[in-house]
Amino acid sequence: MAGDPAMDIQIRTITEEDTAAFDRSLERAFGQQWTDEERRAERAIFEIERNLGAFDGTEIVGTAGAYSLTVTVPGGSVPMAGVSAVGVQPSHRRRGVLTKLMRRQLEDIREAGGEPIAGLWASESSIYGRFGYGMAAPVAAFEIERDRSAFLRPHEPEGRIRMVDKDEALKECPAVFDRVVTERPGMWARSDIWWEHSLSDVERWREGASALFFALHESAHGIDGYAMYRIKPEWKDGLPANQVRVREQIAETPEAYEDLWRFLFGIDLTKQVEAWPRPVDEPLLWMLAEPRRLDFKIHDGLWIRLIDLPVALAARHYSVEDSMVFDVRDPLCPWVGGRYALDVGPEGAECRPTDRSADVVLEAADLAAAYLGGVRFSLLRRARRAEGDPATLRRADAMFGWDPLPWCHEVF
Ligand SMILES: CC(C)(COP(=O)(O)OP(=O)(O)OC[C@H]1O[C@@H](n2cnc3c(N)ncnc32)[C@H](O)[C@@H]1OP(=O)(O)O)[C@@H](O)C(=O)NCCC(=O)NCCS
Repeated sequence: MAGDPAMDIQIRTITEEDTAAFDRSLERAFGQQWTDEERRAERAIFEIERNLGAFDGTEIVGTAGAYSLTVTVPGGSVPMAGVSAVGVQPSHRRRGVLTKLMRRQLEDIREAGGEPIAGLWASESSIYGRFGYGMAAPVAAFEIERDRSAFLRPHEPEGRIRMVDKDEALKECPAVFDRVVTERPGMWARSDIWWEHSLSDVERWREGASALFFALHESAHGIDGYAMYRIKPEWKDGLPANQVRVREQIAETPEAYEDLWRFLFGIDLTKQVEAWPRPVDEPLLWMLAEPRRLDFKIHDGLWIRLIDLPVALAARHYSVEDSMVFDVRDPLCPWVGGRYALDVGPEGAECRPTDRSADVVLEAADLAAAYLGGVRFSLLRRARRAEGDPATLRRADAMFGWDPLPWCHEVF
């Protein structure tokens, strides 16, 4: 009934008996009806003991879950609670149910230990900042008319493209992916079950386009890149107007990168090529004759929440040796807030609570945003989200900055 306070809502971990009600609540929250095929695909990656239900009496009215992922950070990787399946039924919205779920989930992750950060993709960018999540790895999308996609420079292909079916893609792509994932902060490692899931190609996920096509790039060194894409068929006034939807393009070398994009821009019967999610430091912008035609847009992608701040900060590498004291505000998770000294020396990084005076004052969400090297502290200061002397913030920028920029390749 409208007006019921959220205090009547009980949060608990779901059990096998709750899964149908859990799914139903999530479907209602997202306004979707899953097919059996989709349910099977989701079940394969589901970690039931990591999923919470918000119960109004015996009915589940809200949900929040997590996957056990490992995400690349600059120079290393850390376990990450990959938060997902978050939803509150329209009948119970804006009564604090999500807030209860988020608090409980963050406490659970902290108590379980082992995951110094949580991460998520948000349906709306307004939702998670209040829970201490920061925009750590923005993503880009582009959409280009094929007849405006000429490259600036002439090109001799370095390798060849081989089109394969899904079984062969499942055999060949993971090795390429595994070599790339360690280089790029924000990417998470794909286990075998996640590969199966990512390529499960559920009908509804195709949104009217074809099943996935797979193209491998083979050079003298073997397979060093691949692309997965769909075709949305279209004929207009007797003319072909297909759209190529690039789901994933992964390349180990600049040569494979160029060959694969030239292949994707060259597919016959195509009017337009679109790709999402792409890294914000997309080299294509510097390779095309008309970069503006890419219609390159950036928005939030992976959001990060610090759970164990000293462990998280010590787990990554830094671009220069230096020391910095952060005063971190975190009303939601008081165990995260406090003053910390980060000392980066030749042996690596150490992060400890300190009484030293602060160089940088900011909220936990903003330190999380800077964690993967995706945003500079100087920029956060101009956004009035970090305080500190400009010269000191530039030193912090030099410490945290990393190449390549963070990117998350897939929604979880
Ligand atoms: C997003 C969602 C889970 C929020 O649940 P909820 O129980 O209504 O959230 P709460 O009542 O705890 O809201 C907490 C605060 O966040 C704000 N908020 C919540 N969802 C918001 C949204 N989508 N946009 C803007 N503000 C939002 C509330 O207004 C409230 O602010 P206040 O404390 O200043 O009043 C719910 O709207 C939903 O299920 N939406 C559809 C599915 C979805 O988008 N899920 C998220 C997937 S990543």
